[in-house]
Amino acid sequence: MITTHCTSTQSQTAVFARDVLNGLKQFPKRLPSKYFYDTKGDELFQQIMHMPEYYLMNSELEIFQSQKQDILATIGHTHFDLIELGAGDGYKTKVLLEYFLQEKIHFTYEPIDISANVLEQLEKSLHQRWPSLNVAIQPGDYFKMLHKLSKESARPKLVLFLGANIGNYTPQEARVFLRSIFDELNPGDYLLLGVDLKKDPKVILDAYNDPAGITAAFNLNLLSRINRELGANFEKAQFKHWETYNPVTGATKSYIVSTCDQHVFINALNRSFHFSAWEAMEVELSQKYDLQEINSLAAEAGFIVKKHFTDQQECFVDSLWQKPV
Ligand SMILES: C[S@@+](CC[C@H](N)C(=O)[O-])C[C@H]1O[C@@H](n2cnc3c(N)ncnc32)[C@H](O)[C@@H]1O
Repeated sequence: MITTHCTSTQSQTAVFARDVLNGLKQFPKRLPSKYFYDTKGDELFQQIMHMPEYYLMNSELEIFQSQKQDILATIGHTHFDLIELGAGDGYKTKVLLEYFLQEKIHFTYEPIDISANVLEQLEKSLHQRWPSLNVAIQPGDYFKMLHKLSKESARPKLVLFLGANIGNYTPQEARVFLRSIFDELNPGDYLLLGVDLKKDPKVILDAYNDPAGITAAFNLNLLSRINRELGANFEKAQFKHWETYNPVTGATKSYIVSTCDQHVFINALNRSFHFSAWEAMEVELSQKYDLQEINSLAAEAGFIVKKHFTDQQECFVDSLWQKPV
């Protein structure tokens, strides 16, 4: 057991090192946002979700609270596997879980997340709240785990991809991503996709640029993770968080900017990297869409749009798609 764990930790570190190297070799330099979520990152993201400026959380929560009946009625199944990609702490999903239990739906909840830590906490909280809920946590990468689950059972599936996680991909990458989900599903299966909508640019920027600096701490925590896990010597105080929103393309981008000319050594790569003063690294994309663009994404991936569920202020949409029967 111990050997297996060590080997898998070593290989995860090797993959992390490879991804960091690939990102830092590019121009502009970039770091993959999926590595934000270590234990500290999970904690900071939970704080972000409850910030007043982070409207995404309340908008999606409102959709589930006020339209859960309609969501379930549109799906129409009473037996299914409920698979969630990037479940996190499952805060909003719990509204759906509670309703499905109340309606005596037969389902197993299978949350997938790259952070085993966040899944263990989620499993514990679910067992405490609903001891009878069937839960099978799936630590790992989205597609590896989705592929495994789709081979394991032929039951109808409802896949959740919430919280605007799809926005972390460029529209081009999102098309490939959504097509890969389509390929893992059987005809009649559903995808409920949470997407952040284009809106007042100030509202968007404020959500990623909070005055308390929680988003900045979350982004800069990635440097601490590289220091700890890859033996690097990033001086966090010499980098700052910067956010932009382009209302034409809908791209919201987080950068980490070097405030001086400096070198950083990464032991696991046995290599040093030069940062010029004010050189920016891209760390996260949060792409915004309008409903027409979402309809196109669905059609290009092969799905039928069953219904768009939006909040009252039309900040956010949970769009229910089906693989044609
Ligand atoms: C922005 S949080 C959203 C959590 C939740 N879906 C919500 O709406 O509140 C993204 C979650 O996806 C997970 N994640 C990111 N990239 C992943 C990947 N490639 N495979 C599996 N999980 C991933 C992270 O660990 C994190 O818990």
